[in-house]
Amino acid sequence: MAGLSGRTALVTGGSRGIGRAIALRLAADGARVAVHYGKNGAAADEVVEAIERDGGQAFGVRAELGVDGDVDTLFGGLAARMGDAPLDILVNNAGVLEAPPFEQVSREVFDRSFAVNVRAPFFITQRAVGLLSDGGRIINISSAVTRIASTFFQYTMTKGAIEALGLTLAQSLGRRGITVNSVAPGITDTDMGSWVHGAPGLKEEIEASSALGRLGQPADVADVVAFLASDDARWVTGVTLDASGGTWLGPRGEAA
Ligand SMILES: NC(=O)c1ccc[n+]([C@@H]2O[C@H](COP(=O)([O-])OP(=O)(O)OC[C@H]3O[C@@H](n4cnc5c(N)ncnc54)[C@H](OP(=O)(O)O)[C@@H]3O)[C@@H](O)[C@H]2O)c1
Repeated sequence: MAGLSGRTALVTGGSRGIGRAIALRLAADGARVAVHYGKNGAAADEVVEAIERDGGQAFGVRAELGVDGDVDTLFGGLAARMGDAPLDILVNNAGVLEAPPFEQVSREVFDRSFAVNVRAPFFITQRAVGLLSDGGRIINISSAVTRIASTFFQYTMTKGAIEALGLTLAQSLGRRGITVNSVAPGITDTDMGSWVHGAPGLKEEIEASSALGRLGQPADVADVVAFLASDDARWVTGVTLDASGGTWLGPRGEAA
């Protein structure tokens, strides 16, 4: 499939987990992909090499997010590789999950969560809007925690904020043909989701809570992002697509 050929995508946190799968999938669909990372350059190199091995185009770009100057560093790195070429697809995927009990959420944890999960994508998007081609795509990675109560307190608030921004931005960018959507994964088997392997029986319990009866894999989410990035999704904007395999839909009936 080459539906995205000639287009350039920036995937934040494209070096590992869900972002890695998104980078691989968008490249397989023909896009040139900027694989962003914060610290783990080796992981980003591995993604770039995998894409190039399959005949695709990619490059790595480093910027620690949530710190002063993060957006300048990111777009400086992009400009060094892209020059004045437009950006067509922005995937705000990089995020952090810290999950202390409610009483122990400190100001530092709260501020760090918002700095990485909200402030960084906000100002990345603000900067990207000037580079985005008409008909472009903005896709924010949220979480099913905005629908399902969890023990992730400030994290859940960050994902609610990113979904709310998506709706508002969809309205203001629509006349340029730019769509803005969110994708809300359930628990997905990545480094961030590795806590599911931390206690006996936990994985099975989580699998039983999803209608489709298994843990999410990064590619399950990446394929949904690829749809939103494609021309087929031109009439979809301002929505959050649940990509959780139907986690916690309600009591399971006996019908099937
Ligand atoms: N896994 C789940 O169960 C799950 C469920 C729902 C939603 N999500 C959301 O999906 C997205 C991806 O999650 P994941 O599970 O793939 O996470 P992950 O495996 O921990 O990977 C995180 C990625 O983001 C980058 N990153 C994290 N903090 C960064 C920072 N401060 N500055 C720059 N880069 C940073 C990492 O790069 P470096 O390694 O270089 O720092 C890495 O590429 C997140 O927004 C997360 O909230 C995940």
